Amino acid sequence: MTNKFTGVLLVFSIVTFSCSQPETIDELDVKVNDLLAQMTLEEKIGQMNLYNGFWDITGPAPQEGDAAKKYADLEQGYVGAMLNIHGTENVRKIQEIAVNQSRLGIPLLFGYDIIHGYKTLSPIPLAEAASWDMEAIEMSSRVAATEASAAGINWTFAPMVDISRDARWGRVMEGGGEDPYLGAKIASARVRGFQGDDLSAANTIAACAKHFAGYGFAEAGRDYNTVDIGTITLYNEVLPPFRSAVNQGVRTIMNSFNILNGIPATGDTFLQRDILKDKWSFNGFVVSDWGSTGEMITHGYARDLAHAAALAANAGSDMDMESYAYVNHLKAQVDSGMVDIAVIDDAVKRILRVKFELGLFDDPFRYCDPEREKELLYHEEHQQAVRDMARKSMVLLKNEGNLLPLSRGRQKVAVIGALADDNNSPLGSWRISSDDSTAVTLLEGMEPYGAEITYAKGADLITGPATFLNNVPINQTDKSEFRQAVRLARRSDVVVMVLGEHGFQSGEGRSRTRLDLPGVQQELLEAVFEANQNIVLVLMNGRPLALPWAAEHVPAILETWHLGTQSGHAIAQVLFGEYNPSGKLPMSFPRSIGQVPISYNRYNTGRPDALDIVFWSTYTDEAIDPLFPFGHGLSYTNFEYSNLSVQLVDKHRVEIKVTVSNEGRVAGEEVTQLYIRDVVASVARPIKELKGFRKFHLEPGQSETIVFTLTENELGFFDAKGNFKVEPGKFQVMVGTSSAEGLSGEFTIGPVGDQP
Ligand code: GLC
Repeated sequence: MTNKFTGVLLVFSIVTFSCSQPETIDELDVKVNDLLAQMTLEEKIGQMNLYNGFWDITGPAPQEGDAAKKYADLEQGYVGAMLNIHGTENVRKIQEIAVNQSRLGIPLLFGYDIIHGYKTLSPIPLAEAASWDMEAIEMSSRVAATEASAAGINWTFAPMVDISRDARWGRVMEGGGEDPYLGAKIASARVRGFQGDDLSAANTIAACAKHFAGYGFAEAGRDYNTVDIGTITLYNEVLPPFRSAVNQGVRTIMNSFNILNGIPATGDTFLQRDILKDKWSFNGFVVSDWGSTGEMITHGYARDLAHAAALAANAGSDMDMESYAYVNHLKAQVDSGMVDIAVIDDAVKRILRVKFELGLFDDPFRYCDPEREKELLYHEEHQQAVRDMARKSMVLLKNEGNLLPLSRGRQKVAVIGALADDNNSPLGSWRISSDDSTAVTLLEGMEPYGAEITYAKGADLITGPATFLNNVPINQTDKSEFRQAVRLARRSDVVVMVLGEHGFQSGEGRSRTRLDLPGVQQELLEAVFEANQNIVLVLMNGRPLALPWAAEHVPAILETWHLGTQSGHAIAQVLFGEYNPSGKLPMSFPRSIGQVPISYNRYNTGRPDALDIVFWSTYTDEAIDPLFPFGHGLSYTNFEYSNLSVQLVDKHRVEIKVTVSNEGRVAGEEVTQLYIRDVVASVARPIKELKGFRKFHLEPGQSETIVFTLTENELGFFDAKGNFKVEPGKFQVMVGTSSAEGLSGEFTIGPVGDQP
């Protein structure tokens, strides 16, 4: 696959501001142990204390804290890290207190939610996942790290790698979708992008895989709700992206708000010590989520904050975010013997090691260069990078009669919908570090194409101000502007309807009980359809939506998610055919909310086959398959699949080949997907599991043979005890353009030790 991005790659891949060779673990350990030996118990506990800054908040304010105490603790060396402080001037000011006024001058970590960009925003992570392009995703995180590090930040609370099958949950926008294999590849790409190959370089930052674990399986899709899943799901669906991030060298892990099978993740020894630190040998540190240590009281798991401090520290939660549990209560718990000093020493060594790796002891102000900050924020090369990412993230869901691409200048185009003129929503809900109104709107993006474009809002999307903290007012009922929109539609050749969700209708704390178009948008769509059926529906949303009417009536549907700063330019390039859409859905789009949670990798059940009586696994009022399946995405060209071959080349190695041809008239990129099914095993396995994919470019008339190799890594699964196993027997294989469409084959593997 050609990478159109040589210029930018040049900037990011070569220019790492490294001052010295990364130290070996032994040298680091000596430094860490030397420093630890000088520290008092209070200073050690101080390193385990993460305070929120004095401006932005990303969670409910705690009872036990205030600015005066924070400043006092900074001067005492009782703070290990700060969050929500950014900008070289602000960071320097706080770092100077820690470095110059505290006894040992240990520098602080400065963490921030750089989820998909700092100032220049790339598409929301769920959109990026739809690109299936790991190079582009890595580049996107590289851009984010370059800007964030230029603004004083040395730690990001990303990537969020929670698998979820439930679009009601607002945070699906933040993750990699429903599949653990794709999620694991994305986790690894993001960690590479943020951390680079030298954490001591001034343009790399420590990453944080979150939320450990199971957060995306919140019951009823309600944020922060109970998670009750079996260990087969935990090991085979939830954990693989975290394991991938750890294998990639992620330096921190954030635990999660939820209880998992009765135990709050923050207090869960099984997760944080048995699996993460012991089985996976993770040597970074674990940070709690905002207030999650204290929330163990509310869960009914801790008596009070002192008890919560002991439970969390003993369970392996190394740093306490904004609960004041450690800084106010952990010393007493050590003194009373509830927490062994070895627990404290282990946590503090983990934290100090990351600070040494970042080079903060060599130069605590290496991230505080105002000249770099001025030069790099919103840099033109970043704009190009996120525009490329945005182009690749869009998914063409439907294109009946090839209504798309639009022809430049020869069509009268009506653009209808408030989101077409919205320079905020495309930034998504995690834009806390960027600036409002910095997204290119679709109207702006379409201007250069010379088509005769007219615009009508049709209706407001929301009825009041929307912010990061408040619930978006969506009780919109005003249809007074429908008439003007319908009039425009009637006079136009084609209508581009831009509908979906406001940027703050998905994200943390934004669960919905409905998956339709909010407000009066559906009515607007149907009213316009009455006047002109040539509609291109451009969706801007942070989660899968259930749009059966649109899927049935509207000829062309382009899923554009919330595409970040360069949204309008990228969408216009796809609408007018300058870029051939190549995205594939990372989450199933349901027919109705009643199907949710829904995913392609479901189990067969004992009654999967349709009967003429009711006793089989279906609904009486809906099909069980999704409206648009995982892996679905069309192109302006047509890819044909042929010549599938499946060959056992060794006892547990299978070579699979398929020919893909571009039968259309334009070049395009295809994502060929490989799915397997372990037909009979000691635990039931899903009817399909993604175990490989390739994204590649084909010119018109060009064919390519794609080769996949399946090894034990792909053929095996985890049993209920977390043991990975490959079992003999028959496997089915499907290779194709989505989880619902492809060529099928099968193979059989013998017991371990058998020859092929
Ligand atoms: C939030 C989120 C977490 C974020 C943290 C700091 O509540 O759950 O993902 O990193 O607090 O902002």
